[in-house]
Amino acid sequence: MKTLMLSAGEIEKAAGIIKNGGLVAMPTETVYGLAANAFDGKAVAGIFKAKGRPMDNPLIVHISALSQIDELVSEFPEKAKILAEKFWPGPLTIILPKSDRVPDEVSAGLDTVAVRFPSHPAARKLISLSMPLAAPSANLSGSPSPTNAKHVMDDMDGRIDAVIDGGECDVGLESTVITLASDRPRLLRPGGITAEQLREAIGELDIDEAVTKPLAKDAKAASPGMKYKHYSPKANVILIDGDEEYFIEYVNSHAKDGTAALCCDEDLGKLKVPCISLGARGDDKAHAHTLFAALRKADENGCKIVYARCPGTQGVGLAVYNRIIRAAGFEIIHAAEE
Ligand code: TXA
Ligand code: MG
Repeated sequence: MKTLMLSAGEIEKAAGIIKNGGLVAMPTETVYGLAANAFDGKAVAGIFKAKGRPMDNPLIVHISALSQIDELVSEFPEKAKILAEKFWPGPLTIILPKSDRVPDEVSAGLDTVAVRFPSHPAARKLISLSMPLAAPSANLSGSPSPTNAKHVMDDMDGRIDAVIDGGECDVGLESTVITLASDRPRLLRPGGITAEQLREAIGELDIDEAVTKPLAKDAKAASPGMKYKHYSPKANVILIDGDEEYFIEYVNSHAKDGTAALCCDEDLGKLKVPCISLGARGDDKAHAHTLFAALRKADENGCKIVYARCPGTQGVGLAVYNRIIRAAGFEIIHAAEE
């Protein structure tokens, strides 16, 4: 199939493709999503095929008006209303008990549905010209999520009907996922809306173990996506847990052909290997914005080993940490162990 590259002025055309059961990659403020009619099980099955995604990994349904939530969920509890009021439209996904209208292909057989109201104007227009859209990130399963239209084409050319080019994504990492379908609110995936912001809005919040730790082989994932190898570039990513000086010293003493570093602006010029900067030191938002593009760039450059500094876990840093430790397959070198 030929994949059309559409401009932001051609969203009506994209809506037509969706209404005919097709697949369209759309920009959102987090990452690009691969969208299909959320009520059409057959169209949704096409998403899994195009991505090579395991069928037991459920999808997020995207809405463009709060009123659309009624046909998706069977309950809309007070805490969900508070979160929706405070953070929607924006990079937050809320898991709630699902209605009968949501096909099994979307929920992967679970009795819950993940709902998100994105803020990106192109995504909102596409939804309002069609219907609620099921959309995972628009990458091949296992690779880093796409943060621009070229990344989408690199993975999906020939596999989907169209891509809407909306430029670079603002946040750069996928949405924060919280479940309100369990006894206590639980953070399943950190993102642009932080755990601190969620606690301020609704009080107590558990953080799922899988956010920072590898899942034990026989454990059941609260969020099925967490159990799969994720965000993995082809290069071997290794995290260094130590201060600035230790990082520079470690990288320079392990420098060889095919080695590169993900670093901060301040490190540029101090490292003896090719560097890709994630932004100024301590600027977690910049690091989130750049991380996936940097991982893709490392592959484009043919890097074999990529050293990166282990981020902190406060604020948006927790989201960067969650993605980068997965990209590294949980391989961390601790300064104290040397
Ligand atoms: O920012 C985002 O969330 C992007 C854009 C396109 O909106 N989408 C995205 O979708 O990241 P995806 O499919 O790559 O990640 C969705 C995550 C997966 O880990 C999935 O297992 C989890 O949310 N999820 C979806 N529905 C769920 C449910 N009912 N219960 C538990 N986890 C769920
Ligand atoms: Mg994904």
